[in-house]
Amino acid sequence: MNASPAPINLFEFEALAKERLPKSEYDYIAGGATDEISVERNRRAYESWALRPRVLRDVSALDLSTTVLGTKVNVPVLIAPCGGHKKAHPEGEVATYRAAAARGTIMAVSANSNSSFEELANAATGHLWLQLYPFRDRGLTKSWLDRAKGAGYDAICVTLDSQWPPKRERNIRNNYRRIRGVNYSKPGAEAVHAPRPAGSEGGSDPAATWKDLEWIKSQTALPVVAKGIMTGEDVDLCAEIGADAVIVSNHGGRHLDNTLATVEVLAEAVAAAKGKLEVLLDGGIRRGADVVKALALGAKAVFIGRPLFWGLAVDGEQGVVRVLDILREEIEITMAKCGRPTIGSIDATVLVKAPRL
Ligand SMILES: Cc1cc2nc3c(=O)[nH]c(=O)nc-3n(C[C@H](O)[C@H](O)[C@H](O)COP(=O)(O)O)c2cc1C
Repeated sequence: MNASPAPINLFEFEALAKERLPKSEYDYIAGGATDEISVERNRRAYESWALRPRVLRDVSALDLSTTVLGTKVNVPVLIAPCGGHKKAHPEGEVATYRAAAARGTIMAVSANSNSSFEELANAATGHLWLQLYPFRDRGLTKSWLDRAKGAGYDAICVTLDSQWPPKRERNIRNNYRRIRGVNYSKPGAEAVHAPRPAGSEGGSDPAATWKDLEWIKSQTALPVVAKGIMTGEDVDLCAEIGADAVIVSNHGGRHLDNTLATVEVLAEAVAAAKGKLEVLLDGGIRRGADVVKALALGAKAVFIGRPLFWGLAVDGEQGVVRVLDILREEIEITMAKCGRPTIGSIDATVLVKAPRL
């Protein structure tokens, strides 16, 4: 076996995962749209805020727990909905969910999951959200909403930024085909860069409007989380239709390139939310300090996407546990040194805007 030393941060996890994964799978996971400017910007933007250390504030007992839509989590880092965890490990989503449950956090299950929603619900005792799209076929949407409820899922996450297929050049070069998730009635391989026929099963309906999100909200008793929001205007509309939370997200730079980084949009989203809905964020979270910065700017919690695949590729369930533990340790260091013993004590005074030198 590979004698590489155990990775001590998420970048080393990625480097080791890259050695182990087939190139086309690594490229699919790591890559983004066109020039991957947004992928990089999501990361780099964290460098433009500096932390303000505080001393003598009794940080002997840190509490990293918080709530997300009423569910207690032990750490403010959730698992983003990402398709096809079996790309990285044969146990796939089951391994990821067990890791999330072991560390007391929530996993959002992708529409393109390699495990059925029901199988996953039985794999551990934790908290799951079900991610879907505004499908053209409302019967499909309704059946998934019912499956979520029946299997004990806590929330519905509606991904809104995927109505039009992106251009991902690594996938085009690699002629990459991904396997459609098992929760659809017709799973199978599809070329990810080919435009989807309008209204094909599983595709996000390009004709969808706010009425469709409103309809989804009206069809479920579960909280509805709108994912892929990048402007205050769209936060306003989410609030109007009664969404319970938004995820400020540019899909990890995988759909539209040349956007702002998600953390740059966060303050605008929080201002628009006016406390009416919870504001969550994903994109580029790789260090505990990134998490603290996002919370200081008003996020209730954040998600990780790609790092879960790096954890899976390195060591399955234990790899994802380790990824979460590394983030936890780094969050603890940051909280302690900024004099913030609880998540609630992390506020805007933790930060100062300081463009990278
Ligand atoms: C391989 C991969 C598959 C993804 N699949 C989905 C998906 O099925 N649904 C979805 O809403 N987002 C999907 N995403 C986006 C993530 O939910 C999340 O927005 C993004 O990964 C966050 O950025 P990060 O990877 O920098 O943490 C996927 C991301 C990756 C890397």
